[in-house]
Amino acid sequence: MLQGDSTDEQQQVIEMLCQLSSTKADSVLLKALRLQLTADAHSPITLDLLEVAKRRGVKSLADAAGEIENKRNPEDPLGNYRECLSGGNVEYGEKVFFKNKKVTCVRCHMVNERGGSVGPNLSKVGREKTAEYLLESIVLPSAKISPGYSTVQFLMATGRVQSGVIKKEEADHFVIQNADGDLLTLHKDDVDEMQAGLSGMPADLVKQLSKREVRDLVAYLSSLVEEKKRSAHFE
Ligand code: HEC
Repeated sequence: MLQGDSTDEQQQVIEMLCQLSSTKADSVLLKALRLQLTADAHSPITLDLLEVAKRRGVKSLADAAGEIENKRNPEDPLGNYRECLSGGNVEYGEKVFFKNKKVTCVRCHMVNERGGSVGPNLSKVGREKTAEYLLESIVLPSAKISPGYSTVQFLMATGRVQSGVIKKEEADHFVIQNADGDLLTLHKDDVDEMQAGLSGMPADLVKQLSKREVRDLVAYLSSLVEEKKRSAHFE
């Protein structure tokens, strides 16, 4: 079953094996981990196997997990997160998106007529973007910035820093929208310095999420291919 077609089933089998206290279960898990080592890319069960290997407290499993982690390319900024590219659960991802109070994705993004407008509307983001792009958007928000969403920081003459996306520029002032969605008018005479090119999406957001949650979010965002009417699902 561990080599079957259904990711769901494979993940359930891994969880079941983890509950069994037999050395047979250890050897099946070890074999599955070793298969991950020979594969070029991560599979939808890599994260499950790594987590179980750490939880189980068996040295051979922990060693094999360590070997997989050591194989990561240190130059790859997403290296530590590649096992989140596949195998996620769409439904759990939707819950994180709408309900997780630490990351509040919905505060800034609209999906199916629900949410804020500080960031891009994500209702169809899965149609245009690859899983890798979506993962990068969460892990390294400033690596690629969606056109029209680059946040500018303004150092004001008063010493205060304001930041937001420029919505309008006139001869003597800017209108910017800050991360709370508020529109502010900044007079050019009051601006000492400007620094552009940051994402309005908080860079440390990912620290509030487990790898499983990141993987579920990638699966959820990939599933968004068509704008739907506002649903009462999460009211
Ligand atoms: C404080 C506001 C804010 C929060 C909170 C936020 N984002 Fe963003 N997000 C943005 C902004 C602004 C952009 C556009 C700039 C960029 O591309 O980095 C963006 C870009 C993105 C993109 C790329 C979209 C595209 O079309 O290029 C994705 C995907 C995304 N966010 C997902 C998320 C997820 C998932 C969460 C929750 C874990 C989240 N965001 C939380 C503001 C936010």
